[in-house]
Amino acid sequence: MQNILVTGGCGFIGTNFIFYMLSAADYKGRIINVDKLTYAGNPDNLVAAEKKFKERYIFHQADICDARALVDIFDLYAVDAICNFAAESHVDRSIVKPDAFIKTNIEGTFCLLELARQFQHQLELFHHVSTDEVYGSLGRDGHFTEETPYRPNSPYSASKASSDHLVRAYFKTYGLPVTISNCSNNYGPYQFPEKMVPLIILNALEGKPLPVYGKGLNVRDWLYVIDHCQAIWEIMKAGRRGETYNIGGQCEMANIDLVGRICDLLDEIAPRPDAPPRRELIRFVKDRPGHDMRYAIDFSKLTDELGWMPHESFESGIQKTIHWYLDNQAWVELVKSGAHYQRWMKQQYGGG
Ligand code: NAD
Ligand code: DAU
Repeated sequence: MQNILVTGGCGFIGTNFIFYMLSAADYKGRIINVDKLTYAGNPDNLVAAEKKFKERYIFHQADICDARALVDIFDLYAVDAICNFAAESHVDRSIVKPDAFIKTNIEGTFCLLELARQFQHQLELFHHVSTDEVYGSLGRDGHFTEETPYRPNSPYSASKASSDHLVRAYFKTYGLPVTISNCSNNYGPYQFPEKMVPLIILNALEGKPLPVYGKGLNVRDWLYVIDHCQAIWEIMKAGRRGETYNIGGQCEMANIDLVGRICDLLDEIAPRPDAPPRRELIRFVKDRPGHDMRYAIDFSKLTDELGWMPHESFESGIQKTIHWYLDNQAWVELVKSGAHYQRWMKQQYGGG
């Protein structure tokens, strides 16, 4: 793999993956980043990469549904691998308006797969980045394995499930060299503040209410984003073609505990003299429709076959994340001043 096409590289995980590949991973080739730049994509994220890695990093604004634009890119850069991050990724938005999720997550993946088939002679790998949400919801016990039947519950997870099925079918039917990864909740730098962790950090810093859906008892498994990037690269290099690998953080937490821990840390790192503890900002709000109760990941296949384990503990990962948001006020202000962000916050939470 010398010319990896990364889709959705201006989003949260894509940005971290590109930095990781250019500066930390054992990869010396080029990255061609194709991103439509929806509200969630921010080309400024990678300005530093563009300057520092001139020969190895290329950006093109394009939609993964636009086959014509992609054919030219495949030709021009002799693309030999694809890592597909591009997606609509926020569950709550998929509940309000699923259209873009169907378009990008299903049709976009289909378009990429057709292109991969056209260029199969030069393609080493199509890696598809997916989610644990395709498996549905767990009760108190058990873990998702790669054999767990798909049972998606939101338009987002249903669209990701559809894309996973298409990828697998292209392996079976056309022999396309594919791998799929299904990962749990990520947190870290560059995450758009509509998602729980950055939303809570930024609201808490400003002394705003901290919205917790339902009773806050839903459980998620949290993984620091760079650990996810490492896992993806290990799978791309050595994962068995046609296989799915689960990725997880071994870090299950109820939402109310997650919010409490962030509040306590912020009280230490960024104290507010004369203000009450930030936990007092917590507000229980209307639950998400169809809210999955619990996710938990069994990633022993990835550990056994490729030796991957998460490196970051939640304590160290969340500290890094909080410091990143504190140190990158310009990024935060730019995102928060966007019309898309403001409209969403008002519609979802009734405030600014
Ligand atoms: P994100 O919303 O932060 O970024 C998505 C990126 O895709 C943006 O840069 C956006 O501009 C781009 N994009 C959207 N539609 C596009 C299109 N039609 N053509 C080209 N680019 C387009 O998402 P993220 O959190 O970084 O997630 C990346 C991938 O990882 C997604 O496929 C998601 O399903 C998966 N995933 C995310 C998590 C998580 O916790 N965030 C966990 C597991 C899996
Ligand atoms: O599990 C992987 C998935 O994790 C990814 O596939 C998705 O792209 C990613 O967005 C994430 O989905 P979640 O729905 O789990 O993440 P979110 O940050 O939106 O919410 C985390 C939990 O917090 C969830 O149980 C809902 C709850 N929540 C979320 C928000 C935004 C709240 O209680 N209040 C909120 O305001």
